[in-house]
Amino acid sequence: MILLSTSRLTLSPPLHGQAEELLRYYERNRFHLKQWEPQKADDFFTLGAMQRRIDDMTRRMEEQQSLHLLLRDRSTEAIVGECGLTNIVRGPFQACHLGFSIDQAAQGKGLMHEGLTSAIDFVFSTLGLHRIMANYRLENRRSHALLQRLGFEQEGLAASYLMIDGEWRDHVLSSLINPAERPGA
Ligand SMILES: CC(C)(COP(=O)(O)OP(=O)(O)OC[C@H]1O[C@@H](n2cnc3c(N)ncnc32)[C@H](O)[C@@H]1OP(=O)(O)O)[C@@H](O)C(=O)NCCC(=O)NCCS
Repeated sequence: MILLSTSRLTLSPPLHGQAEELLRYYERNRFHLKQWEPQKADDFFTLGAMQRRIDDMTRRMEEQQSLHLLLRDRSTEAIVGECGLTNIVRGPFQACHLGFSIDQAAQGKGLMHEGLTSAIDFVFSTLGLHRIMANYRLENRRSHALLQRLGFEQEGLAASYLMIDGEWRDHVLSSLINPAERPGA
């Protein structure tokens, strides 16, 4: 069982029995996330669908295709955010995609930066990946600032990249290379 700790957070994979708690997280952040994340399926906001989603995440983690973590406040244990390192590809690529969100009420406190610093360290040091890719809408000032502070470098702009909030949206492509494996490291 993976359990990461920072000064204010714990990070661990979601469990089947935590579906209701995770559902509440998405319900209270429905409008906060709408403009930045792909549209949710009609049944997304139901307990059954959330349990199936967690079961899918667990299976993908067992198959080493992804890593899903819930960010919890260390003192209250409440879910304050989540992140996913998905599409893990091994072989000569050794890369994955990063996605994340924080509770609207927990924004602006440096919590996502703290949580992702720990998750990224795990991905590079323990999983041994070489590259983490994160793509975001041009308008997403907070994602841009966060990824820049984490050391992600912009690599380009992908036109019409993801269907978000009813339209194909352009995205900035960025990535972070394992610092131990950078040329000259
Ligand atoms: C993207 C997102 C996670 C960024 O959250 P965030 O709280 O701004 O990110 P950070 O953890 O880096 O916190 C930085 C903010 O905390 C402040 N802060 C306070 N204490 C801090 C500390 N100890 N350390 C660092 N920053 C601190 C910073 O000044 C900054 O605030 P500001 O932008 O108002 O100046 C959040 O906006 C979100 O969930 N958005 C919706 C989902 C989304 O866009 N997902 C990504 C799709 S690509």
